[in-house]
Amino acid sequence: MTSKISLTRYLVEQQRQDGRIPPQLRLLLEVVARSCKNISYAVNKGALGGVLGTASTENVQGEIQKKLDIIANEVLIEANEWGGHLAAMASEEMDSIYLVPNRYPQGEYLLLFDPLDGSSNIDVNVSIGTIFSVLKKPDDHDAGIEEKDFLQAGNKQVAAGYCVYGPQTTLVLTVGDGVAMFTLDREQGSFVLTQENVQVPADTKEFAINMSNMRHWAPPVRKYIDECLQGKEGPRGKDFNMRWIASMVADVHRILTRGGVFMYPWDKREPEKAGKLRLMYEANPMSWLIEQAGGAATNGHQRILDLQPTKLHERVSVVLGSKNEVERVTAYHREAQ
Ligand code: AHG
Ligand code: MN
Ligand code: MN
Repeated sequence: MTSKISLTRYLVEQQRQDGRIPPQLRLLLEVVARSCKNISYAVNKGALGGVLGTASTENVQGEIQKKLDIIANEVLIEANEWGGHLAAMASEEMDSIYLVPNRYPQGEYLLLFDPLDGSSNIDVNVSIGTIFSVLKKPDDHDAGIEEKDFLQAGNKQVAAGYCVYGPQTTLVLTVGDGVAMFTLDREQGSFVLTQENVQVPADTKEFAINMSNMRHWAPPVRKYIDECLQGKEGPRGKDFNMRWIASMVADVHRILTRGGVFMYPWDKREPEKAGKLRLMYEANPMSWLIEQAGGAATNGHQRILDLQPTKLHERVSVVLGSKNEVERVTAYHREAQ
């Protein structure tokens, strides 16, 4: 029988080894994992649990919320507010930050999440997920937490991860020491370590972008994709394959598993917006995971993890995945300047 290392054991051993995971952070990660397990069960029930379809509300980004967006948000808040490990939370589905109520002890961490990523895939039974990012509250802070305390660059994250609800439910985690993957064992009700030291190959023949936006792209993005599409006969001298799941979690999971490049670039549809994806709870955690696995992540110009956020729901252009491809796309942007 193969020995099974549960997420709990993995975290305890990491805590013992090099103190990388202090007790409060360990509790936080356990609670997030438990929330993801509960969301996974709700996702699995689908129509039987009455969780499909649209709620009659909009979030701060003006998007119609799905029932599961709201359910997943509530699961994460209820599970995390009482444990004493958090000072505050922020979510794609909440306009402003959520302070831990006074009746509970306050912890030193800030948790940000996209409770349900890939909302357009919920009702069609395609993989979706939860993305999370953990920051420390600023040291000099005794008074109440404010939104500006969350506005820290991605390189300040102390933990980041996602859980993908697909054919398997897989939790993917980094605390700055590589990337580990845990698969949910439904019979045991626990996450079990199934891969450590995840590595993204530096080269790839696979790209992920929503091609329907092609006419709106900036020239460097167009040039890169044009060259991929020319295949063996073109300047790249090889055929490329395309995948677009429309759930960032599922696209990033594929890239962590077999390489590839993912792009959601700025485009001319809404030129005042830097991109579609959100910096603090989508791009930052995913970029750190990708970098920790040997890949790269930029906004076409700069490393995403070095961007200084100016608001909680800030958007960003995203190019991430296999290092050599990300560098190529970034170089095309540089040349176009
Ligand atoms: P969310 O469901 O949290 O709003 O995120 C959806 C995001 C991301 O997961 C995905 O890559 C992208 O939107 C898909 O966008 P298009 O529908 O424009 O392809
Ligand atoms: Mn999302
Ligand atoms: Mn979402």
